[in-house]
Amino acid sequence: MKKQLLTVTGILFCISFLMMSQTKPVQNTLKASVERGKKVYTERCLTCHQADGGGVQNMNPPLIKTKWVLGDKTQLITIVLKGLNTGVVIDDIEYHNVMASHADLTDLQIADVLTYVRNSFGNKAKAITSAEVKAVRAKLK
Ligand code: HEC
Repeated sequence: MKKQLLTVTGILFCISFLMMSQTKPVQNTLKASVERGKKVYTERCLTCHQADGGGVQNMNPPLIKTKWVLGDKTQLITIVLKGLNTGVVIDDIEYHNVMASHADLTDLQIADVLTYVRNSFGNKAKAITSAEVKAVRAKLK
């Protein structure tokens, strides 16, 4: 009887330990992605594109309703993965600075930051998923 009790206690202990050690699953809601993306943006994009996405005149382009931000997902993901040095013209203003590659970010971080950008600064566009980033990254290799 005493042995049984010990076994039951042991099993219960193991179950609670397993439940506590379980990592939180990634939340796939738009709100969760935007929140995570804001952090990535602050750390990696803000110095050039600014807190309001307005950029710096003639140097770093704005991220407000541009054809890249709202447009084709593959093209947008590619800009973050490979960087950009083609030069861009937005509202008749030319931007010539170089954007470096941000391929060191994870697929989820890139998905989150782009989802944040596409749903901030007056932008409204569909979320980008880490699976979409993964697919583009695989093709670029
Ligand atoms: C060192 C400064 C710098 C950093 C950091 C930077 N960018 Fe850029 N970004 C630029 C420049 C400069 C261009 C334009 C490059 C060109 O003219 O070829 C650009 C272009 C873009 C474009 C396409 C043009 C537009 O305005 O729509 C997007 C989208 C973009 N960046 C998003 C991001 C995101 C997201 C991050 C963070 C992960 C980021 N950038 C980090 C400087 C930067």
